[in-house]
Amino acid sequence: MLSKELLDEFAELKERHDAIVLAHYYVQDDAQDLADYVGDSYFLARKAASIDCRTLVFAGVEFMAESAKLLSPDKRVLMPEPSADCPMAHMLRKETIDAARAQYGDDLAVACYVNSTNEMKAWSDVCVTSANALRIVERLPQHNVLFVPDLHLGHYIQQQVPSKNIILNDGFCPTHEAIEVAEVKLAIAEHPGAVVCAHPECASWVLDEADYIGSTSGIIKRCVEGAETDYIICTVYGVLHEIQKQVAAAGDAGKKRFFFPATTPICPNMSRVTGEKVVACLRDLSGEVFVDEATAEGARRALKRMLELAA
Ligand code: 13P
Ligand code: SF4
Repeated sequence: MLSKELLDEFAELKERHDAIVLAHYYVQDDAQDLADYVGDSYFLARKAASIDCRTLVFAGVEFMAESAKLLSPDKRVLMPEPSADCPMAHMLRKETIDAARAQYGDDLAVACYVNSTNEMKAWSDVCVTSANALRIVERLPQHNVLFVPDLHLGHYIQQQVPSKNIILNDGFCPTHEAIEVAEVKLAIAEHPGAVVCAHPECASWVLDEADYIGSTSGIIKRCVEGAETDYIICTVYGVLHEIQKQVAAAGDAGKKRFFFPATTPICPNMSRVTGEKVVACLRDLSGEVFVDEATAEGARRALKRMLELAA
């Protein structure tokens, strides 16, 4: 818990720098508590594009803060932990896109998960997040869709949209891919009747066990609004903080139980983002995000197309 002195300093720094704090559900609880808005990557991208302030503190990983800077280029965007990166963002080669374009020509769209570099976004036709990928892929006019970089989300979309030819890449989230189906099955055996909620970055054999598949905010909504008592959650543990807050606000504290696979899924990148670092980056104006001008325009175009197609 942050001290009163630190909280007072934070309030003063926010005012001085006209700052708004955005946080993803996977960062440390005390960083989420300092945020003006906590959300999934789609919600946070929309907020960054629409919010009015001089300084944006982005408590999340690099691709999220970069997207905020691209969608809001006039703001100073700060990352509390500049080394927090997403390994999946680097699991795509330009040659993969070039090869698909050469094979399918004009009847190919490249749908790029936001967990990607600006260079790959710029090389793609449209960005997607786990909250809007299905809607966007269905709306694309092309029959062939190269889905990058996440294999598992791409495979899930492939199953949901059989009318399209979805071509997959081999990127993955190490944290979600490490969720063991045996541990999920054990949790189901221990809590019969529990609703299994999974993020589509999980492998297909885990998704096969799920009653609900959705983005982090989708999972939170299912857990908060569901009439059931028990939930098994197959995504990063950080979502529990928001679930518990919303369950308490709905008057259901103590009436619902939430379980995770025995090996608790923790994102080593997101979990380095703490409340103290949120305050420190505003104090020092450190961790400023700059985007490479060579790729900024193309990456911004792909992100803006996402906002249009998902609306
Ligand atoms: P969401 O789009 O659900 O926020 O997920 C982002 C992410 O990095 C999941 O690992
Ligand atoms: Fe990347 Fe996985 Fe962490 Fe999400 S949970 S930021 S996909 S490493």
